[in-house]
Amino acid sequence: MSEIIISLAHPKLEKVYLRPLEKSDASRCCRWINDAEIRQFISNQNLLSFSQEEKWIESANNGKEGINLAIITKEKNIHIGNLGICDIDWINRRGTTGALIGEKDYWGKGYGTEAKLLLLKHVFDSLGLEKICSTVLSTNPRSKAYLEKTGYQEEGCLRRHQLVNGIKADLFVMALFREDFYPIWKKYTGE
Ligand SMILES: CC(C)(COP(=O)(O)OP(=O)(O)OC[C@H]1O[C@@H](n2cnc3c(N)ncnc32)[C@H](O)[C@@H]1OP(=O)(O)O)[C@@H](O)C(=O)NCCC(=O)NCCS
Repeated sequence: MSEIIISLAHPKLEKVYLRPLEKSDASRCCRWINDAEIRQFISNQNLLSFSQEEKWIESANNGKEGINLAIITKEKNIHIGNLGICDIDWINRRGTTGALIGEKDYWGKGYGTEAKLLLLKHVFDSLGLEKICSTVLSTNPRSKAYLEKTGYQEEGCLRRHQLVNGIKADLFVMALFREDFYPIWKKYTGE
């Protein structure tokens, strides 16, 4: 992937814009990823050191592994989380998205939905991908709802797949096809 993203935004999406991650974001990202309340929702449940986080941001910036972006509030310019796409398969034109809003005051207020819409528009329009996958734990209904709001549908369920707080949670496999995305983009942006 040779393209360098400066930022992604849309005037009708009033809550957030996306920009590339910077090394100076590392301590914030480290705080988020090591927070037990957040970690219970994500598939990589290992603790990460500051230097691991810095290295991850460096690789996120080189554009080879996928795209990883910071979610910034438009109102106060606050970095509230990250999202991205990885495992891009150029032959089959698909990839896998993931997101994390680390500032918990912003959960459930539509910030994740706007951020995901901006990323999806880019991956369908500019990267030419056709299918986007994601996984979500059964213990995370907010994340499942937000994926469904942006058009993802459940394709399957890996039962009793991941230990979460001592209980084996199911893992839903979700996917969104390009043609199902554009009506949702239109609903939010009018375009
Ligand atoms: C998952 C995440 C990115 C979603 O972003 P968000 O800004 O919180 O989500 P949104 O507000 O855009 O959408 C959430 C939807 O879920 C709904 N919701 C919230 N809590 C819910 C619950 N317990 N059950 C069902 N739906 C719920 C909200 O009402 C909202 O739908 P609505 O706008 O129709 O009312 C964010 O919450 C987050 O990062 N959480 C912690 C880490 C995480 O879970 N990462 C994802 C791993 S797959």
